[in-house]
Amino acid sequence: MKTRVFIAALAAVAATAMPQAATKSITLPPDGVQLKESILPGFAKAQASCVACHSAEYMRYQPPTAARPYWDSMVKRMKVVFKAPIDDADMPAIVDYLVKTYGNEQGK
Ligand code: HEC
Repeated sequence: MKTRVFIAALAAVAATAMPQAATKSITLPPDGVQLKESILPGFAKAQASCVACHSAEYMRYQPPTAARPYWDSMVKRMKVVFKAPIDDADMPAIVDYLVKTYGNEQGK
């Protein structure tokens, strides 16, 4: 008897919880965009430090006119605001890679 009541209660909980879960689902933009390959030393460092939280999609949508200071503050912002685990010593190389790959020093 007791188990049956328990199961009925569980079913009731599941029935009320399910529609809620369905309405709360969100569709994220397509992910899995990789960083553009490069022979620059910052490429490997960026792979280690920049795509743990989001894909390289974010870099791709930055303005190609963005100059070095823009990328520099971007990397710092990731560390300060979002606590990205980036070594200060790696920052110049990462910024160099970013500005030459996605910013205004492309092809230089
Ligand atoms: C600890 C997690 C984390 C790491 C690691 C990280 N980011 Fe981010 N990044 C975020 C979050 C959170 C946002 C903001 C997302 C949003 O606003 O939708 C963001 C946004 C961005 C954006 C979009 C522009 C903007 O200002 O919001 C760029 C570009 C970016 N990150 C680049 C980088 C680069 C380059 C690195 C490596 C140096 C990096 N991220 C590492 C968490 C991280």
